[in-house]
Amino acid sequence: MCGIVGMVGENLKLEDLVTSLQKLEYRGYDSAGIAYLGDSFGVYKKKGRIDVLKNGLKQKLNDRFFVGIAHTRWATHGEPNDMNAHPHMDCKEEIAVVHNGIIENYREIREFLEQRGHVFSSETDTEVIAHLVEEEFEGDLLDAVLKAVKKLKGAYAIAVVHKNVPDTIVAARKGSPLVAGIGSGVGILASDVTPLLRFTKDVVFLEDGDVMVLRKDGFEVYNTDGVKQQRRVYHVDWDEKAAEKGGYKHFMYKEIMEDPQALVNALVGRVKNDRPFFEELEYYEELLKDADRIRVVSCGTSYYAGLVFKYFLENHTDIDVEVEVSSEFRYKRPHIKEGDVLIAISQSGETADTLESVRLAKKHGAKIVSIVNVVGSTLDRESDVTLFMNAGPEIGVAATKTYVAELAVLYLLGLKVMEINGYWDREAEEILDKLVRMPELLENVLRKDPQIRELSEKYKDYRNFMYIGRGYGYPTALEGALKLKEITYIHATAYQAGELKHGPIALLDVDFPVFAVMPDDSLFFKTKSNVIESKSRNAPVIVLGTEGNRSLEEITGDIIHVPPTHESLYPLMMAPVIQLFAYHIADLKGLDPDKPRNLAKSVTVE
Ligand code: F6R
Repeated sequence: MCGIVGMVGENLKLEDLVTSLQKLEYRGYDSAGIAYLGDSFGVYKKKGRIDVLKNGLKQKLNDRFFVGIAHTRWATHGEPNDMNAHPHMDCKEEIAVVHNGIIENYREIREFLEQRGHVFSSETDTEVIAHLVEEEFEGDLLDAVLKAVKKLKGAYAIAVVHKNVPDTIVAARKGSPLVAGIGSGVGILASDVTPLLRFTKDVVFLEDGDVMVLRKDGFEVYNTDGVKQQRRVYHVDWDEKAAEKGGYKHFMYKEIMEDPQALVNALVGRVKNDRPFFEELEYYEELLKDADRIRVVSCGTSYYAGLVFKYFLENHTDIDVEVEVSSEFRYKRPHIKEGDVLIAISQSGETADTLESVRLAKKHGAKIVSIVNVVGSTLDRESDVTLFMNAGPEIGVAATKTYVAELAVLYLLGLKVMEINGYWDREAEEILDKLVRMPELLENVLRKDPQIRELSEKYKDYRNFMYIGRGYGYPTALEGALKLKEITYIHATAYQAGELKHGPIALLDVDFPVFAVMPDDSLFFKTKSNVIESKSRNAPVIVLGTEGNRSLEEITGDIIHVPPTHESLYPLMMAPVIQLFAYHIADLKGLDPDKPRNLAKSVTVE
């Protein structure tokens, strides 16, 4: 994880570099630092968030520089402190490096370099890169970086600057994302596209093995043998404003409030003649025809979206859907045959385990359909077909509006698979109709915000939560528990309601509330009896149910209602509620939901 930025230009101020870095803070926030060449060459780095760095630089923010690199860290090797913060330098303090990734063979390299007299000042894997470049430097920075990266094993996106090279940044990528673009009088590179938007929307995504020379007016890309490469320029539609808080206290809150818009954006252009329509799938429909099995890989929230897809397709067709967490899939014997379809779901498109699962499946002949938010991300580029979520940038570390967008694309895809395979019927029509009408209803759900905050206030001091649901309610329970634990640090577990009595019910008592996901669906009465069982163990109960169902009041007074919809669509309808409940608890506890401890948004390491 970690975020890196590099800027080269004429009229740049240190404030530009730090502001650009702030756009990547979601990628890690243990420490931050910059290296720059202006009137002098210097490194400034600090433990803590970018604000701490900015504060320390207060007197210098207007200073000009020609080349600069910056880093925000999510620690892997070496504890978060000033010394281990990036950039790292060589012995002569002429070269500075920022790095996102992990150098697996750094111990051997370090030993080798120490024998040659290099003295190290940190515990990080990254520092070896600076010393390696120093070893190889004979006046040509590109040449030195080319030689250095050949010795590295592991994953990296690096940016390197040299005190005596005032007009160039050399960057390299293997396994960690890196994107670059040229604005007016400025060349900029970063771990993702958001810092670039202020300068340009035409960007180039580096590929594994690429080494880039970036200048203020252009760049060249080489492979590790120094042979020039051509890279496609992507136009990114994202608006810079979309990556700002726009008056909201937190990005997470803003992004939850954008759930309805994210749903609209995911649906736009994808319904034609009252049928699901994916232009991108035009040449691939054959793949989904006569499929008796579809495999899905993803992690975290994206995995739970995949579970909804499984319930959906298995409830409406005879097609088996196997959904697996990518970090498990990639190490198992792959039950994949030529022509199988693997759906990979990833907001960032950079999740290392999902990428490796895709590569494994491709090796065995699978075709990859991915559902991705970030255009030009590695997963996008390595897939046969990408269905974009179109949710816009999501900055809060916890997935919110992209979960909604993932669900929308998956419902449409499920309906498409039904259509292609002869399962289209009145019910499918009804689901599509209700899906298209859902954005307005999600606005109504968001209007429950004050009530949800009140409930959050009442429940915020509990130490444990049990989320339960059946059928489509189960993935919602899982996602609700994940949201709660990751941003409030309250322990939350999720079970299929029917599983309670096989063990977990033993946990319940007056201090262990149950969050029951129980819409008016075909399993309502089954779930209701499980909730009543929980209540008789004195567990406080919150119910997430459907408007107009008076029988919920027999269970508890703590009810959050959502409008009625088709039973398969409740995960979408209920998404804002579970997100807001977690958000408000975090906020009321004085925690920062945008930057939960130990987490980062793109998990680009294993
Ligand atoms: C939870 C969350 C994570 C991600 C997971 C996968 O709120 O954001 O669980 O869903 O790390 O990330 P992507 O979708 O980028 O592959």
